[in-house]
Amino acid sequence: MLKDDDRIFTNLYGWFDPSLAGARKRGDWSNTKEILSMSPEDVVEVIKASGLRGRGGAGFPTGLKWSFMPKEVKDKPHYLVVNADESEPGTCKDREIMRHDPHKLIEGCVVGGYAMRAKAAYIYIRGEFYNEAVALQRAIDEAYDAGLIGKNACGSGYDFDVVLHRGAGAYICGEETALLESLEGKKGQPRLKPPFPAGVGLYGCPTTVNNVESIAVTPTIMRRGAEWFAAIGRPKNSGPKIFSISGHVNNPCNVEEELGIPLKELIEKHAGGVIGGWDNLLAVIPGGSSVPLMPKSTCDEILMDFDSLREVRSGLGTAAVIVMNKQTDVVKAIARLSAFYKHESCGQCTPCREGTGWMYRVMERMVRGEADVDEIDTLEEVTRQVEGHTICALGDAAAWPIQGLIRHFRPEMERRIAAHKAGEPVTATAQAAE
Ligand SMILES: Cc1cc2nc3c(=O)[nH]c(=O)nc-3n(C[C@H](O)[C@H](O)[C@H](O)COP(=O)(O)O)c2cc1C
Ligand code: SF4
Repeated sequence: MLKDDDRIFTNLYGWFDPSLAGARKRGDWSNTKEILSMSPEDVVEVIKASGLRGRGGAGFPTGLKWSFMPKEVKDKPHYLVVNADESEPGTCKDREIMRHDPHKLIEGCVVGGYAMRAKAAYIYIRGEFYNEAVALQRAIDEAYDAGLIGKNACGSGYDFDVVLHRGAGAYICGEETALLESLEGKKGQPRLKPPFPAGVGLYGCPTTVNNVESIAVTPTIMRRGAEWFAAIGRPKNSGPKIFSISGHVNNPCNVEEELGIPLKELIEKHAGGVIGGWDNLLAVIPGGSSVPLMPKSTCDEILMDFDSLREVRSGLGTAAVIVMNKQTDVVKAIARLSAFYKHESCGQCTPCREGTGWMYRVMERMVRGEADVDEIDTLEEVTRQVEGHTICALGDAAAWPIQGLIRHFRPEMERRIAAHKAGEPVTATAQAAE
């Protein structure tokens, strides 16, 4: 288990003072000027060496991403954009950072912004996070008043602004290029890539978009060293990480733990165990709603990190662990996610716009067993037509939960169809994964 000493988010639960005075007591802003005396390249190298992978879902190495920014500021300013849209179902970690530890994020903006020679950071926060926006703005104002940001930030000679921008609450605005469109005042629809934001980003300028947690951990990495961070977890899967655990557990919670912790330990030690006991577990979606579920047999042994979860054809995503016990109607649960993706598709590309609606309608029939068995294969085929054929990853996110369901719960889907054909009631009892 992660040692208390190795925790980065020491005010995750809001037990202490979130203000600048409180943050300073916890070590924030203690030697930012010193960090800013390093060269931007050296800061990037430290983050690279730490092995930090993006906490927003895709797990892309953060230092490497920063290194894609131009090495000199030429005719256009550079920007850091912080993705605080946090709309992935089950995910509620960035919210807690902004409420209770906002200075970690603001200091991280300074560190990251400096490393990529940015003029400013824009923090794009989802519209529903009103209280979090208030808390964050309060912290930004404090940082300006104390000279930590703005002209000559921290007395370093570096001028750096931080601007908070409230979105209007659309899931797709969490996709980094839709976010940039929205920030520019346009409809939040993803852009085709290339060009990538490091070349053409916000207002056509070099931009890097990073998740709140990715940015908020960087000052601690700079202070404690890349080796410290890299030694926690497993190679290429390093560092502490906030897990959001929800669903059928006795104590739903956010907890900062070592990447690579066994899922069973995570649920039993921190979330009070599965309701009805471990043997009452049916399945877990380990990374927000956009990754395939895992049946209990996988959950018994699996380690919670990027590569382990990929090996079992799922993913760490946002590390939002959604637990379903045997009282869950798993087909209905996945159908509910299909409704979500259908609703949130921005409609720009045909496979996603039409495919999400199509998948949703078939899933609704699967819940009631009103289908033919060979339609399960047709449904699977449609997910493959959507996956990888769209502008952004929402198409994949809509396809993967259904693929996971078919892979692990096909007998349950077939049983319902048979029950319906036999005129029997279609219920969710006696579910068992293949
Ligand atoms: C539909 C969709 C929604 C997304 N929502 C979020 C989000 O709410 N927050 C987030 O940080 N990343 C979100 N992402 C991922 C971002 O596009 C981007 O990869 C991420 O912000 C990069 O940050 P990181 O490298 O620090 O992980 C979303 C992606 C997609 C396709
Ligand atoms: S995949 Fe869906 S959400 Fe993404 S751009 Fe295409 S239509 Fe929009």
